[in-house]
Amino acid sequence: MGFAEPAFAADPAAAPQDAAVAIHADRPGARLDPHIFGQFAEHLGHGVYDGIWVGPKSSVPNIHGFRRDVIDALKAIRVPVVRWPGGCFADEYNWREGIGPVAKRPKRVNTNWGGVTESNAVGTHEFMEFSELVGADAYVAGDLGSAPPREMAAWVEYMTSPTDSALAQERIANGRKAPWKLAMFGVGNELWGCGGNMDAVTAAQETRRYAAFIKTPEGVPLMKVASGASGEDYAWTETMMAKAGDVIDGLALHYYTVPGGWENKKPATGFDEHDWAEVLAKTVAVDTLLTRHGKIMDKYDPKRRVALLLDEWGTWYKNEPGTNPGFLYQQNSLRDALVAALNFNIFTRHAERLRGANIAQMVNVLQALILTDGAKMVRTPTYWAFDLYKDYQGATVLPVEVDSRWYGRGEYGLAAISASAVRDPQGVVHVALVNADPAQGSQVTVKIDGVAPGTVSGRILTADKMDAHNTMDAPDAVRPQSFTAARWQNGVLTATLPPKAVVMLELR
Ligand code: AHR
Repeated sequence: MGFAEPAFAADPAAAPQDAAVAIHADRPGARLDPHIFGQFAEHLGHGVYDGIWVGPKSSVPNIHGFRRDVIDALKAIRVPVVRWPGGCFADEYNWREGIGPVAKRPKRVNTNWGGVTESNAVGTHEFMEFSELVGADAYVAGDLGSAPPREMAAWVEYMTSPTDSALAQERIANGRKAPWKLAMFGVGNELWGCGGNMDAVTAAQETRRYAAFIKTPEGVPLMKVASGASGEDYAWTETMMAKAGDVIDGLALHYYTVPGGWENKKPATGFDEHDWAEVLAKTVAVDTLLTRHGKIMDKYDPKRRVALLLDEWGTWYKNEPGTNPGFLYQQNSLRDALVAALNFNIFTRHAERLRGANIAQMVNVLQALILTDGAKMVRTPTYWAFDLYKDYQGATVLPVEVDSRWYGRGEYGLAAISASAVRDPQGVVHVALVNADPAQGSQVTVKIDGVAPGTVSGRILTADKMDAHNTMDAPDAVRPQSFTAARWQNGVLTATLPPKAVVMLELR
């Protein structure tokens, strides 16, 4: 990490014993797909331009136009996959306008996001280079809503063909000899909305038709992902699986945490405890969504061949005052870090079916991991949540039971303590504990069957205020500290959690 983390020690007297966690390390479950910690970079506001791309001539240090600071920060959390170019932007994106000499690329209006000029300076070659620089898989979303299947097929051939076909030769002429590794391809996005305003039956039929033309060279795998439901639209999942389940490899799901609702969104900071509880309670509702969408998928696909991909999730607040509402720029506080951690604990429970998730979005948009301002950059509390969980990628899930008191305000409530656990390929057990209560600490006892660790160490993310956040002037106000309030004694682990905290323990 390159810096010594200050130590955090909780006061046991301030924390009643109100939660018990049981971890069954002797009954390991599924492997946690690394893609569950994926990202999303849309041509939206400063998500791509300024956020990751400044251009090769910029005074901001860059590698072929991509910000060095952002690349380094993303590499440090081992970003496994990036979804691009949208979102709604993908539903109108003409990939041909993003290849060839940059000066000749046509300028377009970004009709979805603020009506600003899209320069097309970042196109396929640039995005693929970015993915390689970060070390992430590429998840490209195609335009089903406004382009014919031939366009989608041509784009995939352009990216993946090693032959002397005209499309492969065009790619080579544009500077890329070898085909790229394309891990996932979105057969449209939000077909029920910005992707074409379709009903589920039409969307499923169109998905079948387009999927038929997406072909990769012999032996080159590509996960075809169908546009999925928004939130509780279980009928969408039912129809998609019934009519197109056999031609896809993944089905998307989008779920945003929106305090106040779409018409009356609340701010990212300066909130009270009621809003804190609302955001966290609305976040954990994803558990029911994953269970119910998963059950419908089980009916059509009992062997779980088709992955469920929560390829858009995160908080969606009122945009920051003075910013373009179409840019979806919002601050990111300790509350967002808890949102991320609660999601990760839930994702872990659904690892058999849920094999990918992409936070919306990576830089400068919605629940961003990174915020930039000119040459400056800050890692948000959400970034640090990803950092705490990075060893979960590819680890084996250990079943967990939590007996916790309830925390809530008004109509919003959730278990005060949430937990998950994994064993990584080196045999190290990682235990995540989240205390959602912003005022009350908690002494948690953790019983672990099948593990007798020699050492216990940990890191914690917490702060004095619920809306503590990092700014360009105070970039390190919220960042992990080492955690010393966990003990292994007589076969039981005890951890004293302060209020509003995410703790990651390492048992060796
Ligand atoms: O993430 C922002 C937008 O939210 C995406 O473009 C769209 O797919 C969703 O509605």
